[in-house]
Amino acid sequence: MDPVTVRLSEASTHTLRTLSDRLAPALADDPRATTVSLPELPPGLRDELRACARTGHDGVTVLRRLPVDADRMGPTPARWSEVSDQAGAQWAAQMLLLARALGRPIGWAGQQDGRLVHDILPTRGEEREQTGASSAVELSPHTEDAFHPGRANLLLLACVRNPDRVPTTAASVRHARLADTERELLADPALPILPDSSYAEADGFGGQAPPVATVWETGAGLGLRYDPAYTPLDDGNPAYLRAYRRLGAELARAAVGVRLDPGDVLVIDNDVAVHGRQPFRARYDGTDRWLRRVSVRVPGRRRPDADEHGYGQRVLDPFAGRFEDEEDTP
Ligand SMILES: [Fe+2]
Repeated sequence: MDPVTVRLSEASTHTLRTLSDRLAPALADDPRATTVSLPELPPGLRDELRACARTGHDGVTVLRRLPVDADRMGPTPARWSEVSDQAGAQWAAQMLLLARALGRPIGWAGQQDGRLVHDILPTRGEEREQTGASSAVELSPHTEDAFHPGRANLLLLACVRNPDRVPTTAASVRHARLADTERELLADPALPILPDSSYAEADGFGGQAPPVATVWETGAGLGLRYDPAYTPLDDGNPAYLRAYRRLGAELARAAVGVRLDPGDVLVIDNDVAVHGRQPFRARYDGTDRWLRRVSVRVPGRRRPDADEHGYGQRVLDPFAGRFEDEEDTP
């Protein structure tokens, strides 16, 4: 099934561009947004963004063509740390305004130097890693930051450029056909999920790894937390592993490939859908695929309670308690 694809109205596009131009200089100076205020959006724009990005039942939506200027970003750099905060400020502003309409943008102390907008681009020497810096291998479907209880509820993946139209993949657990016994097995906390290598090592990394549930009932359908590349599957019992493999096969069957063009934003419900990427050949000549990512917490979302430490990784939540209209976010 193809994902829902939507486009902002002309009026909302204009408002978003005006607001982002106003916000961009502050973000250029402070990409961690520790002192930046995100304005409350005019109701017309806010409601349209919410309607557009409302991830509905299956958790995958494509918002086409934000009013951003891809050329302003310059060539794709060799690594995330070489992205200019100045050049990236217009995109950052639009993504954070979108995040503001949907919830609260968050970052991580140990990832991309605490920035709220992360850059996903191929990095030499990391071609075969299971992180966004890889290229030559399939980035297998996963929940973003699955190891952490403070992970995003929504993920925004915006495309700066994608000249080879490499598909980003997404698969909803709500399209997975699972037997009741399989759901029950997968709902039982059996195995931990460990942090990926894009995190700087932090205190607590070597601590006890608590097992977590893979699926749960949200009231609106199944939720999931899935990252097989970072799950010690050798420690699972045979019945559990059969159910886990079945889930993996169902997610593969239900996967869609989304070819993002410049300005497109893939909105993934990180509690409902996993995402990944097809392999591609990186060129390292300034023209490579380049996505920008923002993680969003949605107030009021519930997940199974678990006693987790997050492996010492610290969520940065600079807007916590600062949005007056937060209680009525979707
Ligand atoms: Fe990811």
